[in-house]
Amino acid sequence: MIGVGVIGYGYWGPNLVRNFNDVPGSRVVAVSDLRAERLVQARNRYPATKVTEDAREILADSSIDAVVIATPVSTHFNLAMQALHAGKHVLVEKPLAPTSEQCERLIEEAWRCKRVLMVDHTFVYSGAVRKIKELVREGRLGELYYYDSVRVNLGLFQHDVSVLWDLAVHDLAIMDYVLDSRPFEVSAVGMAHVPGQPKDVAYVNCFFDGHLIAHFHVNWLAPVKIRRTLIGGAREMVVYDDLQPSEVVKV
Ligand SMILES: NC(=O)c1ccc[n+]([C@@H]2O[C@H](COP(=O)([O-])OP(=O)(O)OC[C@H]3O[C@@H](n4cnc5c(N)ncnc54)[C@H](O)[C@@H]3O)[C@@H](O)[C@H]2O)c1
Repeated sequence: MIGVGVIGYGYWGPNLVRNFNDVPGSRVVAVSDLRAERLVQARNRYPATKVTEDAREILADSSIDAVVIATPVSTHFNLAMQALHAGKHVLVEKPLAPTSEQCERLIEEAWRCKRVLMVDHTFVYSGAVRKIKELVREGRLGELYYYDSVRVNLGLFQHDVSVLWDLAVHDLAIMDYVLDSRPFEVSAVGMAHVPGQPKDVAYVNCFFDGHLIAHFHVNWLAPVKIRRTLIGGAREMVVYDDLQPSEVVKV
């Protein structure tokens, strides 16, 4: 039985606590959040789980093997580093950290400590995305021409990172998983419309060898929620719409 400690019980943390409690082979030993009201909710739902405002208690708990970090992105690096130093395996919410330098340091530290460091790129574990990878790997689409994704909704605003680090991270993880190739060039533009807050609309282009081009459109100010990816090939095309109740992937 893997003992799990979850740091961060805001919007996403409760999903992780629920799943780690449901999955055979793991149990949530403790939950930490800086906000007392969130801990009251956690305690009401899981009376047997310890709650604490101090994440260090989770790191010091020898019955906890793995730490799950679901806090704002700007806190990921320090918390993950401390957890690795405390000898814990670590699952960090996406994105791993705000800079690639910090990501590399965490990866090196995980190797050094011989601990698992994993990022919750949620969609990569979904049946739909696995199916798309299979279609691409089998060459069913033919030569790939474009990868085009729209991920827009109204909020939820993150206050420490831009919409790219919040939403485009999903698309980059999916694209990296589905495609064999990596872009040789990336360009991105974004704009902030709320004073003092990060960029809330962004467009990213990725250029690959051959004829493949990718485009991502992410937006926190959209009046509708859209999660739609088109992958066009010489032979067939895929529509992946994560909001559909059925036929999420159409060829
Ligand atoms: N995988 C997904 O599909 C998915 C979906 C939503 C959010 N996320 C990720 O989850 C993370 C959290 O996002 P959110 O929307 O839940 O944010 P949130 O602001 O709603 O929740 C974060 C919580 O962390 C707590 N916190 C901050 N610092 C802490 C510390 N040092 N110790 C203990 N608690 C602390 C805050 O009090 C807050 O309750 C982000 O990395 C985000 O990208 C992933």
